[in-house]
Amino acid sequence: MTTLSPAPRDPRMPRLPTSDAFREFMASGWGEPDRTARVTPGAAEAAADHRRMLSARFPRETLVVASGRSAVRSNDTEFGFRPHSDFAWLTGCAAEAAVLVMRPGSASDGASGHDAVLYLTEPAYAGDEAFYTDALRGELWVGAAPGLDDWASALQIDVRSLAMLPDDLLAIHTAVLSAGASEPALSEAGIDEPSPLLEQALSDLKLVKDEWEIAQLRAAVDATVAGFSAVVAELPAALAGGGERWLQATFDRHSRQGANGVGYTTVMGSGPNAATLHWSRSDGPVSEDHLVLLDAGVEVDTLYTADVTRVFPASGTFSPAQRRVYELVLEARAAALSVLRPGGLFSDFQQAAHDVIARGLHSWGILPGTLEEALSPEGQYHRRYAICGNGHHLGLDVHDCAKTSEELYLRAPLVPGMVLTVEPGIYFHANDLTLPEELRGIGVRIEDDLLITESGYENLSGALPVEVADVEAWVRALTR
Ligand code: GLY
Ligand code: MN
Ligand code: MN
Repeated sequence: MTTLSPAPRDPRMPRLPTSDAFREFMASGWGEPDRTARVTPGAAEAAADHRRMLSARFPRETLVVASGRSAVRSNDTEFGFRPHSDFAWLTGCAAEAAVLVMRPGSASDGASGHDAVLYLTEPAYAGDEAFYTDALRGELWVGAAPGLDDWASALQIDVRSLAMLPDDLLAIHTAVLSAGASEPALSEAGIDEPSPLLEQALSDLKLVKDEWEIAQLRAAVDATVAGFSAVVAELPAALAGGGERWLQATFDRHSRQGANGVGYTTVMGSGPNAATLHWSRSDGPVSEDHLVLLDAGVEVDTLYTADVTRVFPASGTFSPAQRRVYELVLEARAAALSVLRPGGLFSDFQQAAHDVIARGLHSWGILPGTLEEALSPEGQYHRRYAICGNGHHLGLDVHDCAKTSEELYLRAPLVPGMVLTVEPGIYFHANDLTLPEELRGIGVRIEDDLLITESGYENLSGALPVEVADVEAWVRALTR
């Protein structure tokens, strides 16, 4: 009697026979696909540098960092896979179900550094039943899959099969610290809890970007700048009925066409929706009288992302009320940029922008009480209209280095090589009854990506227009 294999994906799918005849038929008659392991030039060398930096922090511990697995979307379908950023930073690799293990060298003082081994899910080729039955490893399911040796030479690191990981871990007698995503092969070896110490160290080390990382971020920002113009050029289609969905999808298509995709869900908010910080629902209309907010970033193949925001009038001309709000945000932006320099504190530019917004809103009669009351630590009434921070570190994650300490983030002096966003904004909700009617439903954020340099900063997204006249000219030129 012929037995049937379990259906790999869909329970309605007819099961495959497990007969010798079928197995033999499936094992041969396949040509060799191109199994080149593609790695961006410089990625392997940058990752090796990152491992050296981490090794010096933990000379005696074994360090384990997993890439993770696709999250279930529903039932037997999954979201697209994107590796954990700490794993990517240490390996230059984007593989799913993979684990980096760094074992301390033999010298008792740890001076010999760590030996790194990358454990990868071994692909299954023709001749192995998993070739056609395993949706994670089978080449018939996933497409041409480089082998472990191909990855070893492309990534310049020792590679072993993930199947060997649990046994290899049992043979380790030093303390083990883990970070990255969860991974069943680690759970099998009793390693379930990430180490806050290791996670924080990784965030600390990522605060200052090296030359290769800066080049990746430049590429991400350049692609993003082009994407913004692509979106503005589609305003007529959005006005004709495509709405926010059309513009959001335009940026997303642009991101996928020229790079890995978006670095986070694109926020496209038109008119009153612009005042909602995370309006990624983006299913509203776009009208002639709307100010349109786009907060979006392209993630390049090495997984570094940009994070840029511009607002623009759909008609090509700001209304007086829109312009008034926009110009106050511009003023806050100028104040923030004026204190952005090496040696300045991260919190300085945050504060500078908030001060301008507080003073501006007070002068418009919007804040209760005196200016002093509004600015006092207990007051901070302007924050009702500017609820989010004015910037953050940027890198592999849009909110990069999130696990570092407050001392190293907010209260630390900026140093050359840091990349961060400056993003002051004012968000006047449509249903905020504290506001004069003409200001309700106006949301403005201006967000740029800045590299701290020896002498100050470089605005990586400076190619996008920001002054009122330039934004209007941009919209008119692209929608004529
Ligand atoms: N797009 C997320 C942020 O601006 O922080
Ligand atoms: Mn941001
Ligand atoms: Mn943003």
